[in-house]
Amino acid sequence: MTTQEEQTRSGLRFPTGFTFGAATSAYQIEGAVAEDGRGTSIWDTFTRTPGKILNGHNADTAIDHYHRFRDDVAIMADLGLTAYRFSVSWPRIQPTGSGKVNQKGLDFYKRLTDELRTHGIDPWLTLYHWDLPQELEDKGGWPNRDIAYCFADYAATVHEAMKDHVHTFSTVNEPWCAAFLGYASGEHAPGRREPENAIRGAHHLNLAHGLAVQAMGARRVGGCVNLYAITPETDSAADLDAARRIDGLQNRFFLDAMLLGRYPEDVLADLPGDADFIQDGDLKIINAPLDVLLVNYYSRFTVSGAPGGRQSAAAAPTDAGSPWVGSEHVSFANGGRPVTAMGWEIDEGGLVEVLTRVARDYPPIPMVVSENGAAFDDVIEDGRVHDGQRQAYVEAHLGACKAAIEAGVPLEGYFAWSLMDNFEWAWGYGKRFGLVHVDFDTQERLMKDSALWYAEIIRQNRTHE
Ligand code: NOJ
Repeated sequence: MTTQEEQTRSGLRFPTGFTFGAATSAYQIEGAVAEDGRGTSIWDTFTRTPGKILNGHNADTAIDHYHRFRDDVAIMADLGLTAYRFSVSWPRIQPTGSGKVNQKGLDFYKRLTDELRTHGIDPWLTLYHWDLPQELEDKGGWPNRDIAYCFADYAATVHEAMKDHVHTFSTVNEPWCAAFLGYASGEHAPGRREPENAIRGAHHLNLAHGLAVQAMGARRVGGCVNLYAITPETDSAADLDAARRIDGLQNRFFLDAMLLGRYPEDVLADLPGDADFIQDGDLKIINAPLDVLLVNYYSRFTVSGAPGGRQSAAAAPTDAGSPWVGSEHVSFANGGRPVTAMGWEIDEGGLVEVLTRVARDYPPIPMVVSENGAAFDDVIEDGRVHDGQRQAYVEAHLGACKAAIEAGVPLEGYFAWSLMDNFEWAWGYGKRFGLVHVDFDTQERLMKDSALWYAEIIRQNRTHE
């Protein structure tokens, strides 16, 4: 028996039917931004704004998945993936964000999902992974309540067209990032630094989620959150309060609304103004029944309330770190753990913690880990990418999934982020998260060692009795 087989047999054996997937998003991989009637998104605009993206990169071509999707699905099949999580580009479907539907956009996702199903791969469709049509930003973006209703209309359109192709739909990917990185820190599109509009946007993203769930009727549908394990740096009152505030905005603001139908009292009390944008009935809509919760998990935050630390709003462009936490400052300390190339603390124990927390504190709901992975500075040596650190990261986090299941968490699947190296938002092509290496000049794909290892884990789980 090889070491890998032993590992699987002893530690990484999952219940029959456990989903082994990988995830991507439209803007990060598709390219073809001006093809087949696609409209402009806020990311097209943002990447053209000098100074916003490392090295001035854009995703006009990205990794050309729009043209290479059949080859990419063949890679997924070689890996043995049982599911693939991707997102639909809103401006491909409604180029101006509302009204007229672009059939060619829908056709692309039909071709993609047909190809997936031909290979026995279950398509998981995300409706919104941050590429808001520019016209809707011109109307105020997410701080404008009307956008939530536009989203519901878009969701209904996609659902109607794709419901025979896709079994599981999800609404908004990581609403925290869309709101706070887009409208508070400005590290992401549309790049606004208006903290009070960020919280307003966050509420409207929640509302958009609930309205979309309603609009899609009885289909299997999920909501997606990015959860963080949070530790106060010390047990001082300031650090404990910083941890409470970060946890409130980052985790509970979304979980409580979606799963309990209310906002946390302490978060509302911390808001700088009246939360007059929350209307009667909104939380009931946001609390629409869900079939599955999608949890993205990357890291633990160690936080401090002491002055003088690294302020989150000024932190490097990243989707970790809360850029606005109420009137008082919070800083992010180094918890002493190893970090990835993003500088994110590696802590698989945090994944067990967030999953068991949801299972304990919220009404019962099946869950999947819908994103988990790590960036490292990969290089090709002798035709291979020896990304042992990534393999160790995924292995540890799969172990955490296993531990959560054993602790009684109804966890049904795991999606690695990402299938392939791609456009990492403000970092351009500077951070590689893929199991599959992509040469950004030639678009050549190459399975990294982590991909070969993941394929073996999947194979053994598929073939065990
Ligand atoms: C979460 C986001 O959903 C994804 O788009 C991003 O690339 C990864 N985090 C890594 O930062």
